[in-house]
Amino acid sequence: MLSLLLLAYSICTPALLARGQLAAAEAYTPTRVACPPDTSLIRLAGTGTSQSLNPSESAYVSSRQSLVLPAAWQSYLDNVQQQVEAKNVSALPDYVSDILSGANGSSAYPTFGIATSGGGYRAAIVGAGALNALDGRNASSVEAGTGGLLQAATYLAGLSGGNWLVTSLVQADFPTLPELVFQPNDASGWGGWNTEFSLESPTNDTVESLAYDFDLVTEIEAKFLAGYPVSIVDLWSRILARHFANGTNADNFFDSSLTHGAGITLSSLVNISSFASYSQPFPIVVADSRSWNANFSNLYPNSDDNVPLTNPIYEFSVYEMGSFDPSLAAFTPTEYLGTESGSDICTVGFDQLSFIAGTSSNVFNSLNYTSIVNGTGLLTSLLELLTYLSNDTATLDSAVTARYPNPFYGLNEGTYLDWNSTELSLVDGGDDGEGIPFMPLLVKAREVDVIWATDGAGNATNWADGYVVSATQARTELLSSTYDFPPVPADPATWHDQGLTTHPTFFGCNSSSPVPLLIYLANGAPPLGQAPVTNISTLALEFAADDVEAALSQMFDITTQGIATETDGIWEKDPEWPACLACAVVDRSRAKAGIERSGVCGTCMQRYCWS
Ligand SMILES: *[C@@H]1O[C@H](CO)[C@@H](O)[C@H](O)[C@H]1NC(C)=O
Ligand SMILES: *[C@@H]1O[C@H](CO)[C@@H](O)[C@H](O)[C@H]1NC(C)=O
Ligand SMILES: *[C@@H]1O[C@H](CO)[C@@H](O)[C@H](O)[C@H]1NC(C)=O
Ligand SMILES: *[C@@H]1O[C@H](CO)[C@@H](O)[C@H](O)[C@H]1NC(C)=O
Ligand SMILES: *[C@@H]1O[C@H](CO)[C@@H](O)[C@H](O)[C@H]1NC(C)=O
Ligand SMILES: *[C@@H]1O[C@H](CO)[C@@H](O)[C@H](O)[C@H]1NC(C)=O
Ligand SMILES: *[C@@H]1O[C@H](CO)[C@@H](O)[C@H](O)[C@H]1NC(C)=O
Ligand SMILES: *[C@@H]1O[C@H](CO)[C@@H](O)[C@H](O)[C@H]1NC(C)=O
Ligand SMILES: *[C@@H]1O[C@H](CO)[C@@H](O)[C@H](O)[C@H]1NC(C)=O
Ligand SMILES: *[C@@H]1O[C@H](CO)[C@@H](O)[C@H](O)[C@H]1NC(C)=O
Ligand SMILES: *[C@@H]1O[C@H](CO)[C@@H](O)[C@H](O)[C@H]1NC(C)=O
Ligand SMILES: *[C@@H]1O[C@H](CO)[C@@H](O)[C@H](O)[C@H]1NC(C)=O
Repeated sequence: MLSLLLLAYSICTPALLARGQLAAAEAYTPTRVACPPDTSLIRLAGTGTSQSLNPSESAYVSSRQSLVLPAAWQSYLDNVQQQVEAKNVSALPDYVSDILSGANGSSAYPTFGIATSGGGYRAAIVGAGALNALDGRNASSVEAGTGGLLQAATYLAGLSGGNWLVTSLVQADFPTLPELVFQPNDASGWGGWNTEFSLESPTNDTVESLAYDFDLVTEIEAKFLAGYPVSIVDLWSRILARHFANGTNADNFFDSSLTHGAGITLSSLVNISSFASYSQPFPIVVADSRSWNANFSNLYPNSDDNVPLTNPIYEFSVYEMGSFDPSLAAFTPTEYLGTESGSDICTVGFDQLSFIAGTSSNVFNSLNYTSIVNGTGLLTSLLELLTYLSNDTATLDSAVTARYPNPFYGLNEGTYLDWNSTELSLVDGGDDGEGIPFMPLLVKAREVDVIWATDGAGNATNWADGYVVSATQARTELLSSTYDFPPVPADPATWHDQGLTTHPTFFGCNSSSPVPLLIYLANGAPPLGQAPVTNISTLALEFAADDVEAALSQMFDITTQGIATETDGIWEKDPEWPACLACAVVDRSRAKAGIERSGVCGTCMQRYCWS
């Protein structure tokens, strides 16, 4: 029997389409254009010493490093030093200021990357709270001595829930984090995350709900009719767009006449003013791939059964999409995603920001598929509708992956997993067990010295337990000719027993470049004797603004406390934590200059390093 949605849909859509009222559907539909002359749709990125970055990325990074970062590092250094003086703790050794003030030349600056984890809305909120504590625009963060580090980052990588944070931040023109989350009612532009509207069912009004579901399906239908593969991830994308892309606020949430973020493409973000002025860290989003040809002996325990660690991991930037993994080592321009391999007709508009955000957070591959197919909820009727639209029950399998015409078809026969597949089946960036997007920051051509990782992933109790970091270690061991990672514990017991998730921990202190130093901050326990609010369920899909505010505020304390101490029931943040953080940030630059650790940096590195 047809669901009510399907029935309404089959009757009404032709009329709606004919009246041309569906601005969002039109904006979401890719279009075919003549391919640009003399442009290759494949960039071979090379491996080993011949590995290369996209020239546009290199140009962005080098402009940011020369035009923006010197002032950003100076400003961060000033903030740390003010806090050191205010707390009357031991002064930083001279090498810290030599490096961060530029006194020792531009080559002494560290290359700093931030990775923000998956874990649903919890990860987005926890990640935002950590970035806020590192944001030089927030007076409390400046006073805490951690503010300014966000501005000094060269890269910002996100996956799944963390990718919602990263993509929304870029496209909203890099507002402060509270503005990003709460910005009310900017009708033409950014409208906040709209957390009070559930991702699953944003209204209890049956009529409004039906109309909403109907809009979602209608919005992706034109893409399907234009000959592009669609799946449940397209619907997910249209839901996410109402939260993490411009154009939707509490007043217009259900307004069917608006585009709700459709038409905003990843490649178009080069024109966002803070990007054009190199004022943002270079954003990167990560997705995994599913393939039935995979080597299933490389599954990480507790990961999605379909995604072994050796499957290619794809990264998306405003410029290109592809993988530095040695089996592929190739990229295609983001702007022309959706183009069939070998075609001389190119596609534009496939790289909808919301679709990429949906790809990186595609949890459907790991949901209980039986319960969706034979369920009663929205997903069931949407799936039914998709099946109806595509007139093909065989699509039930592909219906749960993000479907991309494979730009790399035919490449690296036999070694690249999807060399003979005309479509890529992309899934959540954390599905292989790696809940933190480390891989892009381990690409040697990027020369990242130090990584800040916020871990908002959750175990059964919704606290981070470090396991997702161990997964990256396992992957880099399998791909050791291409990636290096600092040593971390392999088992959850060590993370737990040594308290590595309840305060910031540095990894790789005794390694040297090109192994980056890792500054790891987990959402592993509440801070300072506070009652916990950040152990939000991964399944929570809506939040009152007050609850988000409380979580951001608690995350501020988690990020600024260091190794807190208790005396007679009075909790105190580590007054040296900001100095210790600065010591870690410059540590690879220090080593390259052949200087020994000294002063407070010596004791700090002993206190915060895992050995
Ligand atoms: C700062 O610390 C030093 C040494 O620990 C101490 O001698 C001095 O009195 C302190 N100054 C203030 C203002 O607390
Ligand atoms: C900075 O330059 C001074 C003078 O050349 C040198 O002694 C010192 O080792 C350098 N420090 C760093 C961190 O490069
Ligand atoms: C989103 O809105 C903000 C203003 O709220 C604006 O600065 C930014 O450019 C807009 N982004 C896009 C992609 O339209
Ligand atoms: C819908 O109903 C549920 C259960 O009564 C309630 O928790 C939720 O807040 C309601 N949602 C809206 C948007 O009114
Ligand atoms: C960026 O803006 C320029 C100038 O307006 C325009 O020519 C170009 O097409 C835009 N690029 C994208 C990707 O939207
Ligand atoms: C699959 O991976 C395992 C473990 O890494 C390896 O020993 C084996 O050779 C691989 N199998 C194939 C067919 O590549
Ligand atoms: C759904 O239920 C039907 C009837 O019980 C069953 O035949 C079918 O296999 C189920 N579908 C899935 C995907 O489990
Ligand atoms: C999936 O859902 C079905 C139907 O709700 C249930 O019978 C089955 O046990 C579930 N499977 C798993 C692995 O949870
Ligand atoms: C749907 O598939 C059936 C069976 O394969 C076929 O007879 C029918 O023509 C198809 N309908 C459309 C609209 O493609
Ligand atoms: C694709 O290639 C793999 C080997 O790389 C092979 O196992 C598989 O059967 C091929 N699939 C198809 C559809 O040809
Ligand atoms: C989850 O992690 C927390 C924090 O490390 C730990 O206390 C708890 O025992 C873990 N729970 C499970 C079920 O692994
Ligand atoms: C700075 O961060 C704190 C802690 O989350 C927050 O309460 C405050 O509103 C923020 N200030 C601004 C101006 O964003």
